[in-house]
Amino acid sequence: MDKFVVRGGNPLIGTVRISGAKNSARPCMAASILTEDEVVLENIPQVRDIETERKLLASMGAQIELGYGRAQHRTRIQCASLSNPVAAYEIVKTMRASSLVLGPLIARTGMARVSMPGGCDIGSRPIDLHIKYLEKMGAKITQDHGYLEARTDRLKGTHIIWEKITVTGTEDLLMAAVLADGETIMENCAREPEVTDLAALLTAMGAKIEGAGTSTIRVQGVTKLHGARHRINPDRIEAGTLMLAGAITGGDLNVSGCDPSHLGALINTLHSCGVRCDVTGDTIRVRSEGILRAVDVTTVEYPGFPTDLQGQYMALATQLEGTSIITENIFDSRFKHVQELARMGADIHIQGRSAAVRGKTPLSAAAVMCSDLRASAALVLAALVAEGETIIDRVYHMDRGYENIEEKLRGVGAQIRRMGEVFGKK
Ligand code: EPU
Repeated sequence: MDKFVVRGGNPLIGTVRISGAKNSARPCMAASILTEDEVVLENIPQVRDIETERKLLASMGAQIELGYGRAQHRTRIQCASLSNPVAAYEIVKTMRASSLVLGPLIARTGMARVSMPGGCDIGSRPIDLHIKYLEKMGAKITQDHGYLEARTDRLKGTHIIWEKITVTGTEDLLMAAVLADGETIMENCAREPEVTDLAALLTAMGAKIEGAGTSTIRVQGVTKLHGARHRINPDRIEAGTLMLAGAITGGDLNVSGCDPSHLGALINTLHSCGVRCDVTGDTIRVRSEGILRAVDVTTVEYPGFPTDLQGQYMALATQLEGTSIITENIFDSRFKHVQELARMGADIHIQGRSAAVRGKTPLSAAAVMCSDLRASAALVLAALVAEGETIIDRVYHMDRGYENIEEKLRGVGAQIRRMGEVFGKK
Protein backbone atom coordinates (compact mmCIF):
# COMPACT_ATOMS: atom_id res chain seq x y z
CA MET A 1 0.00 0.00 0.00
CA ASP A 2 1.39 3.39 -0.95
CA LYS A 3 2.20 5.93 1.71
CA PHE A 4 3.08 9.60 1.61
CA VAL A 5 6.03 10.98 3.50
CA VAL A 6 5.58 14.68 4.17
CA ARG A 7 8.09 16.98 5.81
CA GLY A 8 6.30 20.03 7.15
CA GLY A 9 7.37 23.63 7.32
CA ASN A 10 7.48 24.95 3.74
CA PRO A 11 5.06 27.70 2.70
CA LEU A 12 3.37 26.90 -0.63
CA ILE A 13 4.37 29.49 -3.20
CA GLY A 14 3.61 29.57 -6.92
CA THR A 15 0.80 28.41 -9.17
CA VAL A 16 -1.08 25.16 -9.14
CA ARG A 17 -3.60 24.09 -11.79
CA ILE A 18 -6.90 22.45 -11.02
CA SER A 19 -8.12 19.28 -12.77
CA GLY A 20 -11.64 18.40 -13.88
CA ALA A 21 -14.18 17.55 -11.21
CA LYS A 22 -14.43 13.86 -10.36
CA ASN A 23 -17.96 14.34 -9.05
CA SER A 24 -19.05 15.91 -12.36
CA ALA A 25 -17.15 13.43 -14.50
CA ARG A 26 -18.77 10.41 -12.86
CA PRO A 27 -22.42 11.30 -13.57
CA CYS A 28 -21.45 12.59 -17.04
CA MET A 29 -19.85 9.23 -17.84
CA ALA A 30 -23.00 7.51 -16.58
CA ALA A 31 -25.08 9.77 -18.86
CA SER A 32 -23.40 8.17 -21.89
CA ILE A 33 -25.58 5.12 -21.13
CA LEU A 34 -28.58 7.15 -22.33
CA THR A 35 -27.60 7.18 -26.03
CA GLU A 36 -26.27 4.76 -28.61
CA ASP A 37 -24.14 7.58 -30.09
CA GLU A 38 -20.68 8.64 -29.00
CA VAL A 39 -20.24 10.99 -26.04
CA VAL A 40 -16.91 12.80 -25.84
CA LEU A 41 -15.89 14.18 -22.45
CA GLU A 42 -13.00 16.60 -22.03
CA ASN A 43 -11.18 17.53 -18.84
CA ILE A 44 -11.68 14.13 -17.23
CA PRO A 45 -9.41 13.83 -14.19
CA GLN A 46 -7.04 10.88 -14.08
CA VAL A 47 -8.06 9.47 -10.74
CA ARG A 48 -8.95 6.00 -9.55
CA ASP A 49 -12.73 6.52 -9.31
CA ILE A 50 -12.81 7.44 -12.99
CA GLU A 51 -10.82 4.34 -13.83
CA THR A 52 -13.35 2.29 -11.87
CA GLU A 53 -16.25 3.90 -13.71
CA ARG A 54 -14.55 3.17 -17.04
CA LYS A 55 -14.29 -0.49 -16.02
CA LEU A 56 -17.93 -0.49 -14.99
CA LEU A 57 -19.19 0.92 -18.29
CA ALA A 58 -16.91 -1.41 -20.26
CA SER A 59 -18.28 -4.39 -18.32
CA MET A 60 -21.76 -3.41 -19.48
CA GLY A 61 -20.71 -3.46 -23.14
CA ALA A 62 -19.69 0.18 -23.69
CA GLN A 63 -16.80 1.04 -26.00
CA ILE A 64 -14.48 3.39 -24.16
CA GLU A 65 -11.49 5.01 -25.75
CA LEU A 66 -8.98 6.67 -23.49
CA GLY A 67 -7.16 9.78 -24.63
CA TYR A 68 -3.39 9.70 -24.54
CA GLY A 69 -0.57 12.21 -24.87
CA ARG A 70 -2.00 15.72 -25.01
CA ALA A 71 -5.52 14.30 -25.08
CA GLN A 72 -5.02 12.28 -21.91
CA HIS A 73 -7.96 13.98 -20.21
CA ARG A 74 -10.42 13.09 -22.97
CA THR A 75 -12.58 10.02 -23.05
CA ARG A 76 -14.90 8.80 -25.81
CA ILE A 77 -17.71 6.55 -24.70
CA GLN A 78 -20.16 4.76 -26.92
CA CYS A 79 -22.91 2.60 -25.52
CA ALA A 80 -24.19 1.35 -28.90
CA SER A 81 -25.51 -1.75 -27.20
CA LEU A 82 -25.53 -2.53 -23.51
CA SER A 83 -25.38 -6.29 -23.53
CA ASN A 84 -24.94 -6.57 -19.76
CA PRO A 85 -26.84 -3.87 -17.79
CA VAL A 86 -25.28 -5.00 -14.52
CA ALA A 87 -23.15 -3.13 -11.97
CA ALA A 88 -21.22 -5.93 -10.29
CA TYR A 89 -20.22 -5.69 -6.65
CA GLU A 90 -16.56 -6.45 -7.45
CA ILE A 91 -16.35 -3.31 -9.58
CA VAL A 92 -18.47 -0.82 -7.65
CA LYS A 93 -17.64 -1.71 -4.06
CA THR A 94 -14.88 0.90 -3.73
CA MET A 95 -16.83 3.93 -4.84
CA ARG A 96 -20.58 3.51 -4.48
CA ALA A 97 -20.89 3.91 -8.24
CA SER A 98 -23.98 1.83 -8.68
CA SER A 99 -26.48 4.50 -7.67
CA LEU A 100 -25.39 6.72 -10.59
CA VAL A 101 -26.02 4.06 -13.24
CA LEU A 102 -29.34 2.82 -11.88
CA GLY A 103 -31.51 5.60 -13.37
CA PRO A 104 -29.86 5.76 -16.80
CA LEU A 105 -29.80 1.95 -17.19
CA ILE A 106 -33.52 1.64 -16.47
CA ALA A 107 -34.29 4.59 -18.75
CA ARG A 108 -32.28 3.20 -21.66
CA THR A 109 -32.69 -0.58 -21.42
CA GLY A 110 -35.79 -1.03 -19.24
CA MET A 111 -33.78 -3.10 -16.80
CA ALA A 112 -30.86 -2.84 -14.39
CA ARG A 113 -29.16 -5.09 -11.89
CA VAL A 114 -26.92 -3.13 -9.61
CA SER A 115 -25.04 -3.94 -6.46
CA MET A 116 -26.47 -2.13 -3.42
CA PRO A 117 -23.90 0.30 -2.06
CA GLY A 118 -22.77 -0.80 1.38
CA GLY A 119 -21.81 1.27 4.39
CA CYS A 120 -19.10 3.82 4.07
CA ASP A 121 -16.53 5.59 6.17
CA ILE A 122 -18.43 8.86 6.30
CA GLY A 123 -21.86 7.60 7.29
CA SER A 124 -24.68 5.22 6.45
CA ARG A 125 -25.44 6.72 2.99
CA PRO A 126 -28.65 4.93 2.01
CA ILE A 127 -30.13 5.23 -1.50
CA ASP A 128 -33.73 4.74 -0.36
CA LEU A 129 -34.83 7.97 -2.05
CA HIS A 130 -33.41 6.96 -5.45
CA ILE A 131 -35.42 3.74 -5.17
CA LYS A 132 -38.59 5.41 -3.92
CA TYR A 133 -38.73 7.87 -6.82
CA LEU A 134 -37.69 5.43 -9.55
CA GLU A 135 -40.58 3.27 -8.32
CA LYS A 136 -42.84 6.33 -8.49
CA MET A 137 -41.77 6.64 -12.14
CA GLY A 138 -42.99 3.10 -12.74
CA ALA A 139 -39.90 0.91 -12.18
CA LYS A 140 -40.49 -2.40 -10.42
CA ILE A 141 -37.57 -2.81 -8.05
CA THR A 142 -36.71 -5.91 -6.06
CA GLN A 143 -33.74 -6.77 -3.89
CA ASP A 144 -31.85 -10.05 -3.57
CA HIS A 145 -28.33 -11.21 -2.72
CA GLY A 146 -27.11 -7.62 -2.26
CA TYR A 147 -28.39 -6.51 -5.66
CA LEU A 148 -31.25 -4.29 -6.76
CA GLU A 149 -33.07 -5.44 -9.85
CA ALA A 150 -35.25 -2.96 -11.70
CA ARG A 151 -37.57 -3.41 -14.66
CA THR A 152 -39.99 -1.27 -16.58
CA ASP A 153 -41.43 -0.86 -20.09
CA ARG A 154 -40.91 2.89 -20.05
CA LEU A 155 -40.52 5.24 -17.10
CA LYS A 156 -43.27 7.83 -16.67
CA GLY A 157 -42.82 11.46 -15.74
CA THR A 158 -43.81 12.25 -12.17
CA HIS A 159 -43.69 14.83 -9.38
CA ILE A 160 -40.84 14.42 -6.89
CA ILE A 161 -40.34 16.42 -3.72
CA TRP A 162 -37.01 15.35 -2.24
CA GLU A 163 -37.41 15.05 1.53
CA LYS A 164 -33.63 15.37 1.80
CA ILE A 165 -31.40 17.22 -0.61
CA THR A 166 -29.30 14.61 -2.38
CA VAL A 167 -26.68 15.23 -5.05
CA THR A 168 -26.49 11.83 -6.72
CA GLY A 169 -30.22 11.33 -6.08
CA THR A 170 -30.97 14.47 -8.10
CA GLU A 171 -28.51 13.34 -10.80
CA ASP A 172 -29.82 9.76 -10.95
CA LEU A 173 -33.46 10.79 -11.28
CA LEU A 174 -32.57 13.56 -13.75
CA MET A 175 -30.98 10.91 -15.98
CA ALA A 176 -34.06 8.72 -15.59
CA ALA A 177 -36.45 11.59 -16.36
CA VAL A 178 -34.86 12.73 -19.63
CA LEU A 179 -36.04 9.58 -21.45
CA ALA A 180 -39.31 9.16 -19.51
CA ASP A 181 -42.77 9.54 -20.97
CA GLY A 182 -44.05 13.03 -20.11
CA GLU A 183 -42.99 15.71 -17.67
CA THR A 184 -41.05 15.24 -14.42
CA ILE A 185 -40.96 18.01 -11.87
CA MET A 186 -38.41 17.70 -9.05
CA GLU A 187 -38.53 20.03 -6.05
CA ASN A 188 -35.92 20.53 -3.31
CA CYS A 189 -33.17 19.40 -5.69
CA ALA A 190 -29.44 19.64 -5.06
CA ARG A 191 -28.07 22.85 -6.59
CA GLU A 192 -24.42 21.74 -6.72
CA PRO A 193 -22.39 22.76 -9.80
CA GLU A 194 -22.01 19.04 -10.54
CA VAL A 195 -25.79 18.81 -11.14
CA THR A 196 -25.63 21.82 -13.46
CA ASP A 197 -22.69 20.27 -15.31
CA LEU A 198 -24.60 17.03 -15.87
CA ALA A 199 -27.69 18.97 -17.03
CA ALA A 200 -25.52 20.87 -19.54
CA LEU A 201 -24.29 17.58 -21.02
CA LEU A 202 -27.81 16.11 -21.11
CA THR A 203 -29.11 19.26 -22.82
CA ALA A 204 -26.32 18.99 -25.42
CA MET A 205 -27.53 15.40 -25.96
CA GLY A 206 -31.04 16.65 -26.76
CA ALA A 207 -32.71 16.53 -23.33
CA LYS A 208 -35.29 19.16 -22.38
CA ILE A 209 -34.35 20.45 -18.91
CA GLU A 210 -35.19 23.70 -17.13
CA GLY A 211 -34.04 24.92 -13.75
CA ALA A 212 -30.83 22.92 -13.16
CA GLY A 213 -28.85 24.77 -10.48
CA THR A 214 -32.07 25.86 -8.75
CA SER A 215 -34.11 23.79 -6.35
CA THR A 216 -36.84 23.05 -8.90
CA ILE A 217 -35.98 21.14 -12.07
CA ARG A 218 -38.48 20.44 -14.86
CA VAL A 219 -37.80 17.80 -17.47
CA GLN A 220 -39.82 17.05 -20.61
CA GLY A 221 -39.00 13.47 -21.51
CA VAL A 222 -37.87 12.72 -25.07
CA THR A 223 -37.77 9.37 -26.87
CA LYS A 224 -34.12 9.49 -27.90
CA LEU A 225 -30.90 11.31 -27.07
CA HIS A 226 -27.91 11.77 -29.35
CA GLY A 227 -24.15 12.05 -28.90
CA ALA A 228 -22.44 15.21 -27.65
CA ARG A 229 -19.12 16.68 -26.68
CA HIS A 230 -18.79 18.26 -23.24
CA ARG A 231 -16.07 19.78 -21.07
CA ILE A 232 -16.20 18.85 -17.38
CA ASN A 233 -16.18 21.69 -14.80
CA PRO A 234 -13.02 22.32 -12.79
CA ASP A 235 -12.97 20.52 -9.45
CA ARG A 236 -14.13 22.96 -6.77
CA ILE A 237 -13.15 20.58 -3.98
CA GLU A 238 -9.61 20.12 -5.29
CA ALA A 239 -9.40 23.91 -5.65
CA GLY A 240 -10.68 24.40 -2.09
CA THR A 241 -8.25 21.81 -0.74
CA LEU A 242 -5.32 23.61 -2.35
CA MET A 243 -6.57 27.01 -1.16
CA LEU A 244 -6.60 25.63 2.36
CA ALA A 245 -3.11 24.18 1.80
CA GLY A 246 -1.91 27.65 0.80
CA ALA A 247 -3.57 29.17 3.86
CA ILE A 248 -2.32 26.63 6.42
CA THR A 249 1.30 26.92 5.26
CA GLY A 250 1.33 30.72 5.33
CA GLY A 251 1.93 30.67 1.60
CA ASP A 252 1.24 32.78 -1.46
CA LEU A 253 -0.51 30.42 -3.82
CA ASN A 254 -2.31 30.95 -7.15
CA VAL A 255 -4.97 28.32 -7.57
CA SER A 256 -5.63 28.53 -11.30
CA GLY A 257 -8.03 26.99 -13.80
CA CYS A 258 -10.84 26.93 -11.24
CA ASP A 259 -14.29 28.51 -11.17
CA PRO A 260 -14.18 31.00 -8.26
CA SER A 261 -17.97 31.40 -8.38
CA HIS A 262 -18.22 27.82 -7.06
CA LEU A 263 -16.06 28.63 -4.04
CA GLY A 264 -17.92 31.55 -2.45
CA ALA A 265 -18.50 29.92 0.95
CA LEU A 266 -14.84 28.99 1.36
CA ILE A 267 -13.59 32.39 0.17
CA ASN A 268 -15.85 34.13 2.73
CA THR A 269 -14.70 31.82 5.52
CA LEU A 270 -11.03 32.35 4.69
CA HIS A 271 -11.56 36.14 4.61
CA SER A 272 -13.08 35.95 8.09
CA CYS A 273 -10.02 33.98 9.29
CA GLY A 274 -7.78 36.75 7.95
CA VAL A 275 -6.57 34.95 4.82
CA ARG A 276 -6.51 37.10 1.68
CA CYS A 277 -8.20 35.61 -1.36
CA ASP A 278 -7.99 37.70 -4.55
CA VAL A 279 -9.90 36.54 -7.59
CA THR A 280 -8.74 37.31 -11.12
CA GLY A 281 -10.54 35.41 -13.88
CA ASP A 282 -10.13 31.71 -13.21
CA THR A 283 -7.43 32.18 -10.56
CA ILE A 284 -7.66 32.67 -6.81
CA ARG A 285 -4.56 34.02 -5.12
CA VAL A 286 -4.42 32.91 -1.49
CA ARG A 287 -2.09 34.72 0.89
CA SER A 288 -1.86 34.19 4.59
CA GLU A 289 0.55 35.70 7.05
CA GLY A 290 0.50 36.70 10.66
CA ILE A 291 -2.14 35.64 13.13
CA LEU A 292 -5.27 33.99 11.73
CA ARG A 293 -8.54 33.98 13.68
CA ALA A 294 -10.77 31.01 14.55
CA VAL A 295 -14.05 30.90 12.60
CA ASP A 296 -17.00 28.53 13.07
CA VAL A 297 -18.10 26.50 10.08
CA THR A 298 -21.26 24.48 9.43
CA THR A 299 -21.46 22.20 6.43
CA VAL A 300 -24.59 22.56 4.32
CA GLU A 301 -25.66 21.86 0.78
CA TYR A 302 -24.40 24.11 -2.01
CA PRO A 303 -24.01 27.06 -2.02
CA GLY A 304 -23.13 26.60 1.68
CA PHE A 305 -19.83 25.34 3.06
CA PRO A 306 -19.15 21.91 1.49
CA THR A 307 -18.89 18.79 3.60
CA ASP A 308 -16.10 17.71 1.23
CA LEU A 309 -13.90 20.50 2.67
CA GLN A 310 -14.80 20.00 6.33
CA GLY A 311 -11.76 17.89 7.22
CA GLN A 312 -9.33 20.12 5.36
CA TYR A 313 -10.78 23.19 7.11
CA MET A 314 -10.39 21.38 10.42
CA ALA A 315 -6.67 20.98 9.70
CA LEU A 316 -6.47 24.74 9.16
CA ALA A 317 -8.51 25.38 12.33
CA THR A 318 -5.74 23.77 14.39
CA GLN A 319 -3.56 26.71 13.26
CA LEU A 320 -6.13 29.47 13.93
CA GLU A 321 -6.02 31.55 17.10
CA GLY A 322 -9.05 30.61 19.28
CA THR A 323 -11.72 27.91 19.17
CA SER A 324 -13.51 27.02 15.92
CA ILE A 325 -16.72 25.02 16.15
CA ILE A 326 -17.09 22.83 13.08
CA THR A 327 -20.50 21.25 12.56
CA GLU A 328 -21.07 18.44 10.08
CA ASN A 329 -24.67 18.45 8.87
CA ILE A 330 -24.56 16.27 5.76
CA PHE A 331 -23.09 12.94 6.86
CA ASP A 332 -23.47 11.23 10.21
CA SER A 333 -19.91 10.08 10.85
CA ARG A 334 -17.52 12.28 8.92
CA PHE A 335 -15.07 12.93 11.75
CA LYS A 336 -12.70 9.97 11.27
CA HIS A 337 -9.77 12.34 10.64
CA VAL A 338 -10.16 13.79 14.16
CA GLN A 339 -8.36 10.92 15.91
CA GLU A 340 -5.52 11.08 13.42
CA LEU A 341 -5.19 14.87 13.77
CA ALA A 342 -5.17 14.37 17.54
CA ARG A 343 -2.21 11.99 17.14
CA MET A 344 -0.37 14.91 15.56
CA GLY A 345 -1.14 17.11 18.56
CA ALA A 346 -4.43 18.75 17.58
CA ASP A 347 -6.78 19.72 20.40
CA ILE A 348 -10.23 18.63 19.15
CA HIS A 349 -13.33 17.59 21.10
CA ILE A 350 -16.33 16.08 19.39
CA GLN A 351 -19.82 16.54 20.75
CA GLY A 352 -22.55 15.09 18.58
CA ARG A 353 -22.33 16.61 15.12
CA SER A 354 -19.86 19.32 16.19
CA ALA A 355 -16.14 19.42 16.83
CA ALA A 356 -14.47 22.16 18.88
CA VAL A 357 -10.98 22.79 17.56
CA ARG A 358 -8.76 24.77 19.88
CA GLY A 359 -5.82 26.58 18.26
CA LYS A 360 -3.23 27.49 17.64
CA THR A 361 -1.58 24.13 18.35
CA PRO A 362 1.84 23.15 17.11
CA LEU A 363 1.51 19.88 15.21
CA SER A 364 4.18 17.21 15.24
CA ALA A 365 4.80 14.46 12.72
CA ALA A 366 3.30 11.04 13.40
CA ALA A 367 2.31 7.90 11.55
CA VAL A 368 -1.32 8.42 10.51
CA MET A 369 -3.89 6.56 8.47
CA CYS A 370 -6.37 7.77 5.84
CA SER A 371 -9.98 6.64 6.28
CA ASP A 372 -11.62 8.26 3.25
CA LEU A 373 -10.86 10.56 0.36
CA ARG A 374 -11.29 13.94 2.04
CA ALA A 375 -9.95 12.78 5.42
CA SER A 376 -6.71 11.94 3.60
CA ALA A 377 -6.53 15.48 2.27
CA ALA A 378 -6.99 16.79 5.83
CA LEU A 379 -4.01 14.71 6.99
CA VAL A 380 -1.81 15.93 4.14
CA LEU A 381 -2.64 19.54 5.03
CA ALA A 382 -1.82 18.97 8.68
CA ALA A 383 1.43 17.26 7.70
CA LEU A 384 2.45 20.30 5.64
CA VAL A 385 2.76 22.32 8.86
CA ALA A 386 3.79 19.58 11.28
CA GLU A 387 7.26 19.51 12.67
CA GLY A 388 9.13 16.51 11.29
CA GLU A 389 8.21 13.76 8.79
CA THR A 390 4.64 12.52 8.82
CA ILE A 391 3.94 9.14 7.27
CA ILE A 392 0.45 8.91 5.85
CA ASP A 393 -0.77 5.39 5.21
CA ARG A 394 -3.52 4.15 2.84
CA VAL A 395 -3.18 6.98 0.34
CA TYR A 396 -5.19 4.91 -2.13
CA HIS A 397 -8.13 6.83 -0.64
CA MET A 398 -6.53 10.06 -1.84
CA ASP A 399 -5.84 8.57 -5.28
CA ARG A 400 -9.57 8.02 -5.73
CA GLY A 401 -10.14 11.72 -6.23
CA TYR A 402 -6.99 13.87 -6.41
CA GLU A 403 -4.97 13.83 -9.63
CA ASN A 404 -1.18 13.79 -9.12
CA ILE A 405 -1.59 15.54 -5.80
CA GLU A 406 1.96 14.98 -4.64
CA GLU A 407 3.39 16.37 -7.91
CA LYS A 408 1.11 19.39 -7.72
CA LEU A 409 2.13 20.07 -4.12
CA ARG A 410 5.82 19.52 -4.83
CA GLY A 411 5.56 22.00 -7.72
CA VAL A 412 4.69 24.77 -5.24
CA GLY A 413 7.32 23.90 -2.67
CA ALA A 414 5.91 21.11 -0.48
CA GLN A 415 8.19 18.31 0.63
CA ILE A 416 6.09 15.26 -0.13
CA ARG A 417 6.96 11.96 -1.72
CA ARG A 418 5.23 8.67 -2.30
CA MET A 419 6.66 5.60 -0.75
CA GLY A 420 5.78 2.36 -2.55
CA GLU A 421 6.01 -0.92 -0.74
CA VAL A 422 7.90 -0.31 2.46
CA PHE A 423 9.35 -3.77 2.55
CA GLY A 424 10.74 -4.96 -0.79
CA LYS A 425 9.36 -8.23 -2.14
CA LYS A 426 11.76 -11.16 -2.30
N1 EPU B 1 -29.47 10.38 1.58
C1 EPU B 1 -30.50 9.58 2.01
N2 EPU B 1 -31.16 8.81 1.07
C2 EPU B 1 -30.82 8.81 -0.25
C3 EPU B 1 -29.76 9.65 -0.66
C4 EPU B 1 -29.10 10.43 0.27
O1 EPU B 1 -30.83 9.54 3.20
O2 EPU B 1 -31.46 8.09 -1.03
C5 EPU B 1 -28.75 11.21 2.59
C6 EPU B 1 -27.29 10.80 2.78
O3 EPU B 1 -27.17 9.70 3.67
C7 EPU B 1 -26.67 12.07 3.31
C8 EPU B 1 -27.45 13.16 2.58
O4 EPU B 1 -28.65 12.54 2.10
O5 EPU B 1 -26.88 12.19 4.67
C9 EPU B 1 -26.74 13.78 1.40
O6 EPU B 1 -26.18 12.77 0.59
P1 EPU B 1 -26.03 12.92 -0.97
O7 EPU B 1 -26.92 11.93 -1.63
O8 EPU B 1 -26.12 14.35 -1.38
O9 EPU B 1 -24.51 12.45 -1.17
P2 EPU B 1 -24.00 11.66 -2.40
O10 EPU B 1 -24.75 12.11 -3.59
O11 EPU B 1 -23.94 10.21 -2.09
C10 EPU B 1 -22.22 13.37 -3.25
C11 EPU B 1 -20.74 13.35 -3.51
C12 EPU B 1 -20.01 13.32 -2.17
C13 EPU B 1 -20.41 14.56 -1.39
C14 EPU B 1 -21.94 14.60 -1.22
C15 EPU B 1 -22.43 15.85 -0.53
C16 EPU B 1 -20.57 12.23 -5.63
C17 EPU B 1 -20.17 11.03 -6.40
N3 EPU B 1 -20.43 12.18 -4.31
O12 EPU B 1 -22.51 12.18 -2.53
O13 EPU B 1 -18.63 13.37 -2.46
O14 EPU B 1 -19.81 14.53 -0.13
O15 EPU B 1 -22.57 14.52 -2.52
O16 EPU B 1 -22.03 16.98 -1.22
O17 EPU B 1 -20.98 13.21 -6.22
C18 EPU B 1 -16.36 12.96 -2.07
O18 EPU B 1 -16.13 13.42 -3.20
O19 EPU B 1 -15.45 12.72 -1.23
C19 EPU B 1 -17.74 12.68 -1.68
C20 EPU B 1 -18.05 11.90 -0.65
